Amino acid sequence: MSKPEKLIVDGKRLDGRGPFDMRPIKFTAGVLKRADGSCYLEFGGNKVMAAVYGPREVHPRHMQNASRAIVRYRYNMASFSVEERKRPGPDRRSIEISKVSREALEGVVMEELYPRSAIDVFVEILQADAGSRVAGINAASVALADAGIPMKCLVSAVAVGKIDGEVVLDLNKDEDNYGSADLPIAMNQFGEITLCQMDGHLTEEEFGRALDMAVDGCKKIHELQKQALIEKYGQDITPDVAQPIEGGETNE
Ligand code: CDP
Repeated sequence: MSKPEKLIVDGKRLDGRGPFDMRPIKFTAGVLKRADGSCYLEFGGNKVMAAVYGPREVHPRHMQNASRAIVRYRYNMASFSVEERKRPGPDRRSIEISKVSREALEGVVMEELYPRSAIDVFVEILQADAGSRVAGINAASVALADAGIPMKCLVSAVAVGKIDGEVVLDLNKDEDNYGSADLPIAMNQFGEITLCQMDGHLTEEEFGRALDMAVDGCKKIHELQKQALIEKYGQDITPDVAQPIEGGETNE
């Protein structure tokens, strides 16, 4: 799409959403037979598969940690996932996204329970439509729970951005292309932020509003993640701990 004159017309975005609306989201837990845990997610136009293997022995062995498990995360964009064919294989962008996504998740995984082992997370972007890194984190979080990996809680993620001078939740591709800021955020269910990146500029006041929107979006996503696990297991297996982390609220 060429640059539209306006991205917000009469208070509505070009796809009909209001500023606080997210695109449709659908999680399906446990879709891959050979993975220990998996999740397929459609988040707007993003189609994402996450597969988790482990805890398993670390190869190469020199990467082992004697006191805890290591989490490895590979974000990969299929060549056919974007408009202009993406060259297969890792690039700077996917290496960066893999690193920040791993950091967004590793704090909630109880790594100390599995010394010398690895928990491998593979995220395949089958179709991308902006916000693919946050979609990947959402799917990976459900896949980790599906694999039975002990976690303190789930992680939920969403991007907030600025278009036509307004702060809006969950940018789509056109909004990402022609907007002036993009802020992917991940948090656990206690509201602790585990990923916060920013492209573009926001004032301090706008940043505060963006954060509030992200908290609201992540709460809704958390509910959908929980539902996906209930659908698969027939009961609530959402990981959490009785004790809140750093004075947050428990979800009991
Ligand atoms: O996907 P996310 O918003 O996390 O990351 P980004 O680097 O801000 O990319 C935004 C969007 O640009 C992606 O979701 C894709 O739709 C698109 N993109 C692309 O068309 N070709 C690439 N090589 C990389 C991204």
